[in-house]
Amino acid sequence: MKFNNSPIGIFDSGLGGLTVFKEIRNILPSEDLIYFGDTARVPYGNKSKETIIKYSSEILEFLSVKGVKIVIAACNTSSSLALDDLRKKAAIPVFGVIEPGAKKAVRVSPSGNIAVIGTAATIKSRAYSTAINKEISFLTIDKNLKTNNHTKIIEKACPLFVPLVEEGIINEEITKSIIKYYLSSLIAEKPSCLVLGCTHYPILKGLISAELGRDTEIIDSGVETAKAVKYYLEENNMLKKENKNGSELFFVSDDIDKFKELGGKFLKRPIENVYLTDGIK
Ligand code: DGL
Repeated sequence: MKFNNSPIGIFDSGLGGLTVFKEIRNILPSEDLIYFGDTARVPYGNKSKETIIKYSSEILEFLSVKGVKIVIAACNTSSSLALDDLRKKAAIPVFGVIEPGAKKAVRVSPSGNIAVIGTAATIKSRAYSTAINKEISFLTIDKNLKTNNHTKIIEKACPLFVPLVEEGIINEEITKSIIKYYLSSLIAEKPSCLVLGCTHYPILKGLISAELGRDTEIIDSGVETAKAVKYYLEENNMLKKENKNGSELFFVSDDIDKFKELGGKFLKRPIENVYLTDGIK
């Protein structure tokens, strides 16, 4: 296929999508990757559906012009509210992060309560509940898997998590207190798993896990998305045909230095090749 050696496009409202980027890099070391972080307009999680579709569509256009073979909306907010629209507009496959996370949650927890945390926009859209219920019906009907019809899905918006992560306020007492504040009502429901329904949240995973305790498995949608993308590229004969290490290019809509500094913490290594784009307003 002529697109094999084209890059993979990955985008987020800011830095959070780097958690997905990291998983894609680990699982697909030869692929060329182009990341776009809309750092001038983050956060998306408190914006309207119309605005999120507009911003996401502009980024899709930007990445398409760069010649990517697929696009990954490495942002739960964009995946919840703009994915259908992006798929209609795009000439290439567009992946979101909701479905892979929802599928994993049902497999891990076929009969227990499932908790989901995300931005206000993601939770309001109920995209996870819809995807989880769809997967439960699919497994019950088609695979005869025993699921408990009474599985409860508890969704909770945690709007302060994104600014804490974007500001690099991670291992601080204030962060622990805010995590406790948001999670206490979920813990009372004794969920058997909790989906990190925002790509910023894996950065807080250690603290979230400490608060939840051992009986609740944490699901990172980014990890599941990377596996789904790899499977798709293999099945469609779209993997890069060269074995050398893939290249990396990063574009941001604001403040290269801050992206390099904080992004380096996300990837746990220095970030090179970051460019300010004038292509996005
Ligand atoms: N990282 C994004 C997500 O996964 C959202 C952050 C934001 O509010 O922009 O939802």
